[in-house]
Amino acid sequence: MATSRVSAALLLLPLSLFACGTSTAGKPLATPESASSTLIPIPTSLVRNRGSLRFDAGTALHASQASSKPAAALFADLVKRSHGFAPGTGMKQSASSIAFEIDPALRGNNDEAYVIDIDAKRALVRARSARGLQHGAVTLWQLATDANGPRSTLPAVRIEDAPRFAWRGAMLDSARHFQSVDEVKRLIDAMVVHKLNVFHWHLTDDQGWRIEIKRYPKLTEVGGCRQPSGDAGTNANGEPVRYCGWYTQAQIRDVVQYAAERNIQIVPEIDIPGHATAIIAAYPELGTTTEPLKPVAEWGVFVNLLNTEDSTMVFMEQVFEELVALFPGRYVHIGGDEAVKDQWIASPRVQAQMKALGLKTEMQMQSRMVARLEKFLAARGKRLVGWDEILEGELPQSATVMSWRGIEGGLQAAGKGHDVVMSPVSHLYLDYLQTESPNEPPGRPTTVTLRKLYDFEPVPDDLAADRRHHILGVQANAWTEHMRTYDRVQHAFFPRMAALAEVGWSTSQTRSYDDFLARLPAQLARYRMLGIAPARTPFEVSIDASAANDGLASVSLSNATGYRDIRYTTDGTEPTATSPRYEAALSLPQTATVHAAVFVDGKPLQSADRFAITPASLLERTDETMKMCTGALKLRLEDDTTVDGERAIFNVDIFNPCWEWVKAPLASTRAVSLRVGRIPYYFQLAHDESHRKFKPASTPHGEAVLKAGCDGPTLATAPLPASPGANGFLELTLPLPAQTGSKDLCVYFTGDTRPAMWVLDRIRLLPH
Ligand code: ACM
Repeated sequence: MATSRVSAALLLLPLSLFACGTSTAGKPLATPESASSTLIPIPTSLVRNRGSLRFDAGTALHASQASSKPAAALFADLVKRSHGFAPGTGMKQSASSIAFEIDPALRGNNDEAYVIDIDAKRALVRARSARGLQHGAVTLWQLATDANGPRSTLPAVRIEDAPRFAWRGAMLDSARHFQSVDEVKRLIDAMVVHKLNVFHWHLTDDQGWRIEIKRYPKLTEVGGCRQPSGDAGTNANGEPVRYCGWYTQAQIRDVVQYAAERNIQIVPEIDIPGHATAIIAAYPELGTTTEPLKPVAEWGVFVNLLNTEDSTMVFMEQVFEELVALFPGRYVHIGGDEAVKDQWIASPRVQAQMKALGLKTEMQMQSRMVARLEKFLAARGKRLVGWDEILEGELPQSATVMSWRGIEGGLQAAGKGHDVVMSPVSHLYLDYLQTESPNEPPGRPTTVTLRKLYDFEPVPDDLAADRRHHILGVQANAWTEHMRTYDRVQHAFFPRMAALAEVGWSTSQTRSYDDFLARLPAQLARYRMLGIAPARTPFEVSIDASAANDGLASVSLSNATGYRDIRYTTDGTEPTATSPRYEAALSLPQTATVHAAVFVDGKPLQSADRFAITPASLLERTDETMKMCTGALKLRLEDDTTVDGERAIFNVDIFNPCWEWVKAPLASTRAVSLRVGRIPYYFQLAHDESHRKFKPASTPHGEAVLKAGCDGPTLATAPLPASPGANGFLELTLPLPAQTGSKDLCVYFTGDTRPAMWVLDRIRLLPH
């Protein structure tokens, strides 16, 4: 029996070998078995053999060594959740058994490798280490589950598997929004079933300090609380609201142990010298500015930097001393990103220190701090990691660079002999939305689709062969400015964590996006079994409907993730596998209801999306279905009407807020109706702030303006009031002079209305 790569095996084996249902070797059955082709991440090598192993509560579970027990326990726990029973507890012992074994004699030198052999009598999972055995347990559980849910057989297979990269990371920002210990553990659990092994925990930022430091209690007492911006910052009695949260050292130890038991290393991050407003708010003597500061409730880049005094470095070392005592892992992250140097440039004290030290640039000053911390950490057996800005100065050789502004930093760092983790904003930032759906939560509308993340290649082609080993791996980052709740964190991570898993684990030869899409429904079923709530948006059907010249509506359906089997109905019923398949734009009456869903293997991926088409809806656009005039800094933002509840969400370019309906059919339009919302202007953009455009107003509170094209002639204006209605919205009707044909219709608001800004919610053309 020769081993072959999975994709080849899938192509070469006849379907009859995919038989399922009994342990009778070789007997062809009617239903093709899919379980072994639903593994995520796809293994290095998988060979299917004839037959299968019965799997039920009577299946015995063996793990005789102490070091093999955790993997068996993990498998049993996952099975409990998917199948509702614990293996080996059935009344009637079945003839099948599963064994987990640490086998030091296994070939290879990858500590995370494992081998699975399944025949009609037993499944054997072997690895040289408990880490490898854990991955084997996850694979075995995946073999026991597919798109239909739990299975009662395991396919006969031999799997030999090992990760491509040693660093397969996920970052959670607990500073911008705070997650409970339980939520952090849920994320760690999810990482386990994706074979990820590094949890990067972003614990401090301008908006909050989230880790108890015994020596400096004000870090959490003062730095751990902020007042939310806008209306949400005040309660019904007019009192300030406090948004607080931090982890006690006991909680941190608990999470560290929880992660260690699951073979996940936690890399804590304390971000210096920038992103430091919360630290400086707590201990003003650490700051460069003499202005009193508070933890901020706005987003963006702030100019507040730690100062460069020796006493400040001693303070930070004392903080890192407590940190290294809490986190036993090898790596400690010191941030280093976006440290805008204005305050150091303006500070006579910092400038005098630089002169005395013979330093010519402020970046050299930052590098000096990094070098000092590197030495401090190295003396404690730790390795320093920092964002790629740390590469701009002299960097100790042992420092690891996390390449976020692109892959160039990583390429350069690896070229210089630094270890690198690839985490580029373009492909691996999870605060970027996954689709353009109007149902996306707030975030950054430049999309990081499943496909974009999946197609990321961590080792750049132009990296020299003898430097490639410096690419330790990949990491996806969930920055939480826009993730107030754990539901939103889940939305950001899933299903993209499945794509990340495959980028980090599987070889580039075994990876194929189409094949991944075919395996993904099984992963979605596993999410359901484990209580993980993935985003719906990647699996939605989206619609584009417009009035056609023939008096009908032209309706296009699509799916952002690339699934092609869309089924629809127009009679109000849920589509089924036998409903019409969408092939090309539909011509429907201008009053119609469309239900549509994506189907894979005859089953809908989720409940159908419903679209009500009316003559009025065909003359309507929302902020999500309009273009931004320039797209300088597009965000998807929510209003501030409640602290915890539902809020309206808007797509807006905060540098140049302006919405464009390309080719709006204006010929028979007598007026335009606008629905307008208002959000807090909660951004600090450091040097970019000056790029923000405020168009001059001619009335006290500014005007709504309609133009023919972003730079075209003005068609209509209407003065704005001081504030919106009680529901947070404003409705305006702007009469339009007679128009011919279609025109690009542009909407913006004049005036500087900070600390709030008007945003477009919906535009509707009113016919004669
Ligand atoms: C970063 O996104 N500022 C690392």
